[in-house]
Amino acid sequence: MTGSRLLGSGSALPERLVTNAELSERIDTSDEWIVERTGIRQRYIAGEDETTASLATKAARAALKDAGVTAGEVDLIVLATATPDNTFPATATKVQDALGCNGCVAFDVAAVCSGFLYALATADSLLTTGMGKCALVIGAETFSRILDWEDRTTCVLFGDGAGAIVLGAPDLAKPAREGGPGVLASKLHADGAHHDLLYVDGGPSSTQTVGHLRMKGREVFRHAVANLSSVLGEVLDDAQIKAEAIDWVVPHQANRRILDATAKKLGIPPEKVIVTVDQHANTSAASVPLALDTARRDGRIVPGNLVMFEAMGGGFTWGASLMRV
Ligand code: ACO
Repeated sequence: MTGSRLLGSGSALPERLVTNAELSERIDTSDEWIVERTGIRQRYIAGEDETTASLATKAARAALKDAGVTAGEVDLIVLATATPDNTFPATATKVQDALGCNGCVAFDVAAVCSGFLYALATADSLLTTGMGKCALVIGAETFSRILDWEDRTTCVLFGDGAGAIVLGAPDLAKPAREGGPGVLASKLHADGAHHDLLYVDGGPSSTQTVGHLRMKGREVFRHAVANLSSVLGEVLDDAQIKAEAIDWVVPHQANRRILDATAKKLGIPPEKVIVTVDQHANTSAASVPLALDTARRDGRIVPGNLVMFEAMGGGFTWGASLMRV
């Protein structure tokens, strides 16, 4: 089976930019500590009138425009988020209504920071098996709403935003595995044994509250490098591609040190890794499509490039996808 093709991308950020300097006026932290440990310099924080759905809709509109696809042509919306507007219905249905493509398939995927990888693999599978011709795959988050702003070990790490891509059904005349555009391979994993290392301490069925993010950062870091290196190897093996052939790695933007360590393990030079964590911080499921859109817009990622996407997050969940764009 050949893979689905990238037709366009878009992204959206909240209006309000918050620098490390501004945070250090309110929290016992410093620009120096944040930059040295994470690479983060600033993040965007949603205002009262901005939500996961509103950011996702903005990103989706930009992606449709970029792809030259109308909302009426969308058969499927898969939206990855851990910060939905409501417990239900799915944020994807709010986006669907705002775009005006009512009637198509629309649902959310919850895999935290790996959400976009899970959404991409799901949409690709559905398009590849004939469920539709065109999908919107969105990662959108407002993590600022689940942060404990008294906890300096977590609140400095995250930001809000959304990214979206339009995927087209495989072109059977030009299969991705024979040099055509499209997804060459995807691998996903989860291991629920590590729940307590990264989780939100609330939820409708447990506490009837939204809760706050809790993370044992150092342990997550250790698992992230090991899991990402291993899943990247699996994808390369499946696609029968050597690491040297990759033009760009678009990783989940959790921490500059994780990006560097993972690339080094794979033997990929740092110049081939798209880094936006300095500008956006960790936007969870939004970070991969936000980074992809940034690098397409500034002209680094161009048609024909082999691009590796990868992410690891709460669950734990992790995954990677290789795509010729
Ligand atoms: N400002 C100043 N000092 C701080 C801050 C802060 N914001 N936060 C922690 N410190 C202090 C600690 O209190 C500690 O002080 P101590 O030595 O006196 O006890 C010291 O800095 C070191 O703390 P560590 O937690 O050991 O720092 P570390 O180098 O591990 O960096 C970090 C922490 C940045 C969180 C790192 O571990 C990390 O990035 N982990 C991975 C996070 C990640 O990848 N998450 C993935 C997905 S996220 C998702 O799925 C939602």
